Amino acid sequence: MAKLSVNGRAYFVDDEPDTPLLWVLREALQLTGTKFGCGGGHCGCCTVHINGEAMRSCRVRLGDVEGAIITTIEGLSATSDHPVQKAWVELQVPQCGYCHSGQIMQAAAFLTENVNPTDDEIDVAMRGNLCRCMTYLRVRKAVKLAAEIKSGGKL
Ligand code: FES
Ligand code: FES
Repeated sequence: MAKLSVNGRAYFVDDEPDTPLLWVLREALQLTGTKFGCGGGHCGCCTVHINGEAMRSCRVRLGDVEGAIITTIEGLSATSDHPVQKAWVELQVPQCGYCHSGQIMQAAAFLTENVNPTDDEIDVAMRGNLCRCMTYLRVRKAVKLAAEIKSGGKL
C-alpha cells in the first residue's frame, strides 16, 4: 500500500510500485484531467507538478513519489482562477482541448521560475508540450498574459 499526497489530500493505493503515476491518478484516484498521449514522455499531455516541478506522469513510477507533493490540474486552484487558467479562458486557447491540462500545468510551473518571460523563453519552456490542433501561438500569448495577471497588471 502506497501513501500519496495529491491536491492536498492523502490517498492510499495498492498498485504495484512500478505503475506509472499517470495510471494511478486516472484509474485509482479517478483524476482524469491528466491525459494520456504517448506514454513515453514525448507529448506533455500527462504533465503534473511533483514538489512544484512540472513532470511527465507517464514516466514517473508510483514507488518514486511516496512522500512527494503532487498537484494535478484538478488541484491547481480550488476555484479555477489560477492566473494561467484565467489567461487560457480569456484568450480561448484550446481547440479540441486534449493537450491543455498538460499545457496549463507546464505553464504554471514555468511561471513560478520566470515571472516575466520573453517569447523565446516561453517557446523553450513549452516546446515539450505538443498540440495536434496547433494552438501554439495562443499558448504563447496566454503564458504572457498569465505572467501579467500574476504580476497584478491585467484582469
Ligand atoms: S503521455 Fe506522458 S508525455 Fe505523453
Ligand atoms: S487543442 Fe487539440 S491537441 Fe491541443
